[in-house]
Amino acid sequence: MRIYLATSNKHKLAEARHVLSKYSIEVEQKQVKKLEVQADDVERIAEEAAKRLCEQGEDLTVVEDAGLYINALNGFPGPYSEYVYKTLGIPGILKLMDGVADRSAYFKSAVAVCAGSSVRVFVGIAEGNIAEEPRGSGGFGFDPIFIPLGLNKTFAEMTLEEKGEISHRGRAFKALAEWLKKYK
Ligand code: IMP
Repeated sequence: MRIYLATSNKHKLAEARHVLSKYSIEVEQKQVKKLEVQADDVERIAEEAAKRLCEQGEDLTVVEDAGLYINALNGFPGPYSEYVYKTLGIPGILKLMDGVADRSAYFKSAVAVCAGSSVRVFVGIAEGNIAEEPRGSGGFGFDPIFIPLGLNKTFAEMTLEEKGEISHRGRAFKALAEWLKKYK
């Protein structure tokens, strides 16, 4: 089986491919016009983007939207993670967290698929804590400052395989894969 992932992020593509390969699902990258939808949660953003894909007749095409939610900052940056990553970056987030005792945070991924002209959304969450300083060179985005619960390394210190087992994206794509196996 083959699905299409509408993204320009090569890390997302690699992570999705890795998880879905275990279900014998191939992922082809689809270059689409930026489907940016403004909404205040990642589920809605992914869902709306997938609806647009459906309207364009893009069957079995998936969009993913993800964000980092920091509890002490009332969930900031959440759905604004991309903008905040580009503007404040990791140094800005660490500055906001300076002296903050509660460093708990979570990543949320929403994967929406257009299948047979209707949309399904799958959500994955990874709980963890914001590191005191960046560590590791793998992954992308806020990976160097996110330590998943129960571990003492950041996502950026993990292999694709390790991250995929426990990440928000890994979980959301696993849920998609389970559904697709029944759908087809
Ligand atoms: P997007 O809107 O889904 O592309 O993600 C928004 C932003 O969240 C990205 O630019 C990254 O900074 C951050 N982000 C999303 N997923 C991850 C991840 O798995 N690791 C680290 N940062 C992530």
